Amino acid sequence: MVAEGQRWVVLKFGGTSVSRRNRWDTIGRLAAKRMAEDEARVLVVVSALSGVTNELTAICAGDGIPARIEALVERHRAFCAELELDADGVLGERFAALRALGKDVRAGALALDWQAEVLAQGELLSSTLGAAYLRSQGHDFGWCDARDWLDAVSLPNASEWSQRLSVNCQREADAAFVERFSAQPTAMLITQGFIARHRDGRTAVLGRGGSDTSAAYFGGLLKAKRVEIWTDVPGMFSANPRDVPDARLLTRLDYAEAQEIATTGAKVLHPRSLGPCRHAGVPMAILDTERPELPGTRIDALADVIPGVKAISRRNGIVLVSMESVGMWQSVGFLSDIFERFKRHGLSVDLIGTSETNVTVSLDPSENLVSTNVLEELSADLEEICRVRIILPCAAITLVGRGIRSLLHKLSGVWATFGKERVHLISQSSNDLNLTFVLDEADADGMLPLLHADLIDSGAMPVHEAQVFGPRWREIEGQLRPKPTPWWPAERERLLALAGAGTPRYVYHLPTVRERARQLAGITAVDRRYYAIKANSHPAVLRTLVEEGFGLECVSLGELRRVFEVLPDLPPSRVLFTPSFAPSDEYAAALALGVTVTLDNVEALQRWPGVFRGHNLWLRIDLGHGDGHHEKVTTGGKKSKFGLAAARVDEFVDAARALDVRITGVHAHLGSGVETRAHWRQMYDELAGFARRIGTVQVLDIGGGLPIPYGQDDEPFDLDDWAEGLAEIKAVHPAFELAIEPGRFLVAEAGVLLASTTQVVEKDGVHRVGLDTGMNALIRPALYDAWHEIKNLQRLDEAADGAFDVVGPICESSDVFGHRVRLPSTTTPGDCVLIADAGAYGFTMASTYNLRALPAEDVIE
Ligand code: LLP
Repeated sequence: MVAEGQRWVVLKFGGTSVSRRNRWDTIGRLAAKRMAEDEARVLVVVSALSGVTNELTAICAGDGIPARIEALVERHRAFCAELELDADGVLGERFAALRALGKDVRAGALALDWQAEVLAQGELLSSTLGAAYLRSQGHDFGWCDARDWLDAVSLPNASEWSQRLSVNCQREADAAFVERFSAQPTAMLITQGFIARHRDGRTAVLGRGGSDTSAAYFGGLLKAKRVEIWTDVPGMFSANPRDVPDARLLTRLDYAEAQEIATTGAKVLHPRSLGPCRHAGVPMAILDTERPELPGTRIDALADVIPGVKAISRRNGIVLVSMESVGMWQSVGFLSDIFERFKRHGLSVDLIGTSETNVTVSLDPSENLVSTNVLEELSADLEEICRVRIILPCAAITLVGRGIRSLLHKLSGVWATFGKERVHLISQSSNDLNLTFVLDEADADGMLPLLHADLIDSGAMPVHEAQVFGPRWREIEGQLRPKPTPWWPAERERLLALAGAGTPRYVYHLPTVRERARQLAGITAVDRRYYAIKANSHPAVLRTLVEEGFGLECVSLGELRRVFEVLPDLPPSRVLFTPSFAPSDEYAAALALGVTVTLDNVEALQRWPGVFRGHNLWLRIDLGHGDGHHEKVTTGGKKSKFGLAAARVDEFVDAARALDVRITGVHAHLGSGVETRAHWRQMYDELAGFARRIGTVQVLDIGGGLPIPYGQDDEPFDLDDWAEGLAEIKAVHPAFELAIEPGRFLVAEAGVLLASTTQVVEKDGVHRVGLDTGMNALIRPALYDAWHEIKNLQRLDEAADGAFDVVGPICESSDVFGHRVRLPSTTTPGDCVLIADAGAYGFTMASTYNLRALPAEDVIE
């Protein structure tokens, strides 16, 4: 039944989606579903069966025409059999047309109009058999010839070839177009992608990405409700999942961003196909035929665009042409002279960088036919006016997203990563949508996962924006280890009662501390376990971890005093002292207490020989590289103040020997919240090298730094994998005891910060929930852009249907716990709010700034 004035939904299916019977069943199901749910009419646009267009292209080259045609006939016959269709009844005429084309007089000269007709046969065959099959399954499907509806346009400067084999189509139609199209009697229609009508009445084809583009043209002309591109991937991702398994599905993009992502890397959608929908304001969606339940990527004109990097991509095979001229400065027409030469060789320039004496441009191989010959000829021509250097092969790494310029301050990690390589060219697009770095292909290898992680850590890629960022690839593939269920929902009543006694208040759950301690205790490669008490020095936490067999690691005399106040009987041998730039009396006091002191510079030995003479010491070494969840917690490498430079180890050993100091341990801690798998085993390996050289070392201490999953869909640290890596490397260097000293891992998830809502305010469209404490109680979001889950504990059962910035009462604009946090829209002053995973570096970093009181602390068993 066709109702008057119903709108259309356009569904496009590619080659793999039309080559199996079960896939056609899916097409029928999806079309019927759209018709019912959207109360719309459905137009299905299809590609040729997979591989068929390649065969037709070979025919167009005049290569083995009769044999290829017969093979194609056979292929379609076999598929008809699979579909239980009578091949001659359904496709007889099409087979005859195909054979006739093989014998056509135009075939000899490979005439362009003949080629277009040949190429069109694939879609004509697939759509015809598809219509027959869908009808046989009871669907109300009609067939139409796309050439009756899509008209090719000829563009100025277009070659004969592109006017026939890579055409654009009319985007505007007369007022009656929709009416005429809708007058076709069946509720659902199937048509061909890729083909259109040439103005001479014969066939033209759309070229690469043609079927998607056809669907988009139909969508635009019909003012469709939506155009859905059904493929075999879940949508567009924040990076190519093959390189970056942690890439996120991009669930919502605006046209310009999608276009940019399609242009700079993602193969999911041809960039050409966005234009017609964008022009007509028709929303698009990319969806996965095998997994229709996934959200896919929706593309439309977003009203409130979220600034941030949405994707990172890499293109290979980039050619750079660097042109050096002495006389370029203020010389009129130099650029015009060089670009004229590019034009002469049919080369289109992509990126460009200029200085007083140099212009460097890039040639993108996907837009150009860049052969050695062409480059040689181009160079020869350019040599007439400048010195030329061709640099290849290069890779272009591009960050795409709205408002890149407003994010530069968050890109320091990205710049640092590039800083390690030689970057030939940096280009920032004038539409503020992309930032591209061009470097040697070999140097770009392995960079994408690092950059992707950097972008997330720095907040430049705002993956917590659920509107835009969906699940990661590994999660979709079922490869993600689930985050453990937090303890606090089950303790809600107790927490609310504690909050009743006053907020702000930290609460630590000791069973969780114990659980984490036992996880680490189970790792047999580790001989000594210390807890870095700077993460949380609450007495109950210290007692719990010591009971679990942990020693304690301190960084100040204050921490040492805390330890022995709480645990007066703790043997000093279970305590480490690892200060940074401490005054001499702290070292002296620590040595007097009998704890193990770690030193990280020669100068201290030289200046205070009396303090250290005759003692055993551990030596902290900077292994020259660092890592961590934020630049501010990276503690290795040249820029870091920690550790003895590797080049000065011999000097330290000599100075120590002169003072009768024995070096019994070597230590490194190169960062906190490290996600890199190989980090610790590499450290162990490197430290073992130093230990051998020194000769007296018994213990290798590889520090802390283990991460925890703060974000909703962050993955827990893979302890098994970590343990395995350590065991392997320990087997290589069995002579040493292995020590670790994590902080965060043991206590972060055990702690929550409870606060009370003070005010709920709207300003310029932003809704804010104010709390009775802020960055003075928990500074991590302000200092590191750290993400903590925030819940309205009072209204845990209500839907989190509002988006609020959660802020504190401190007079700093960085006093924000989280942007666009999902909370119930009913959130009111007086509600108790919980900030999760605050057990590490929460209270220990708190201050009384603005003379706000420190939070209270409680533990629960
Ligand atoms: N050992 C030494 C020498 C350290 O400096 C640290 C931490 C650790 C061990 C423990 O690292 P963990 O396992 O907790 O990552 N305030 C920052 C973290 C600073 C870490 C400082 N040093 C944050 O809130 O993320």
